Amino acid sequence: AVRDTAEEEGCAVYLVGGFVRDLLLFFPTQDLDFVVEGSGGQFARALIQRMPDGKLTQHEKFGTAQITFPDGSHLDVASTRWEYYSFPGALPQVEESCLRDDLFRRDFTINSMAICLNTEHFGELVDYYGGKRDLQQGKIRFLHNLSFIDDPTRMLRAIRFAERYHFSLAKETLEALYTAIESGVLAKLSVERFTEEILHIFKEINYLAMGQTLIRSGLFKAWFGDDYAWNFNLEDEQDSADWSLNTRWLISISDMDSPVIEKVLDRVILNRSLRDETMTFVSLRESLSNPLSLNEMDALLNKVPKEVVMVLTRDERFSKLLTEYLEASQKINMSLNGKTLIQMGVKQGPEIGKILDQVRRAWLQGRIHTLEEEKGIVRH
Ligand code: CTP
Repeated sequence: AVRDTAEEEGCAVYLVGGFVRDLLLFFPTQDLDFVVEGSGGQFARALIQRMPDGKLTQHEKFGTAQITFPDGSHLDVASTRWEYYSFPGALPQVEESCLRDDLFRRDFTINSMAICLNTEHFGELVDYYGGKRDLQQGKIRFLHNLSFIDDPTRMLRAIRFAERYHFSLAKETLEALYTAIESGVLAKLSVERFTEEILHIFKEINYLAMGQTLIRSGLFKAWFGDDYAWNFNLEDEQDSADWSLNTRWLISISDMDSPVIEKVLDRVILNRSLRDETMTFVSLRESLSNPLSLNEMDALLNKVPKEVVMVLTRDERFSKLLTEYLEASQKINMSLNGKTLIQMGVKQGPEIGKILDQVRRAWLQGRIHTLEEEKGIVRH
């Protein structure tokens, strides 16, 4: 469809960036990035005609468009020639640029390659800056030495790509990274963008190694103000493959004292669930330090997300207590609920909650084992 649209519109179209990199590495990849020499917006509007499932979103201001599909995948279209409007109704300002410049504005050589999609040159690799060589040699190399200054998120990206592909930073790039960290360039970065990059890292398979590099390079210290007790233990590598993003995050901060966690939270903007789970984790650590009965534990933990309890269980101060509780709570196999109680003749109201609590407690303490016994408690 892209090739046909390109012919129809008479413009040059390329696949660019991460997709080309991962294609050459035989690395699984999803997102498609296209660059159009000409108007990306116009191209995207023509392309969507051939993709009835797709939904088009245009960002005129940036000369980009995105087509999303029902399965959640998407493709991005950018233009080497931008048309943007400084205010609604103004004449379009046109910026001329070409593929070479577009690719030069990118972060690393391995991300600055393109594949032509026009019929005449279909499938040809465009590699002005030695991207293929660096892929073969396993190097992350910037295109110019102001790269990290222009865009400090690239510091985190460099670390992410290096660990993801087991590459190393080219000498000048590594030096520039250290210089950038020392010169305080991170201060230019907003908390939102930093958080976004960090969460990208936490989603990577080998995020533990990345975390270690973030500490070792001094980048975390530069951002958070100190070398806090981050927990990126390589021994967890195998287990971590099954951990959710939230679990990974909670484990990474699990060795820190509560006031330190608060300081960390000042330097990131977490989404609601991540923030709530962090706070729950902190407050449960406090509560669990006091002696608790099984019932009290149940009241505390019953509604807490499983991952928070799992991370708490890793703490040796609580592991015995929590394992006992989890074993007991697994025995709970309640059949009754508010509705069945009403059918049994219990009056609607606070009484119902009380009875359900009693039944749950009986299960937890191993006093009952069947539905009949549950009903026995209710009748009693
Ligand atoms: N890019 C850049 N500088 C950035 C972010 C992105 O130059 N700070 C360019 C790179 O050419 C990159 C492309 O934009 O390849 C797409 O960026 P993005 O989708 O963020 O990353 P990918 O390279 O596709 O990596 P990932 O596999 O993590 O999605």
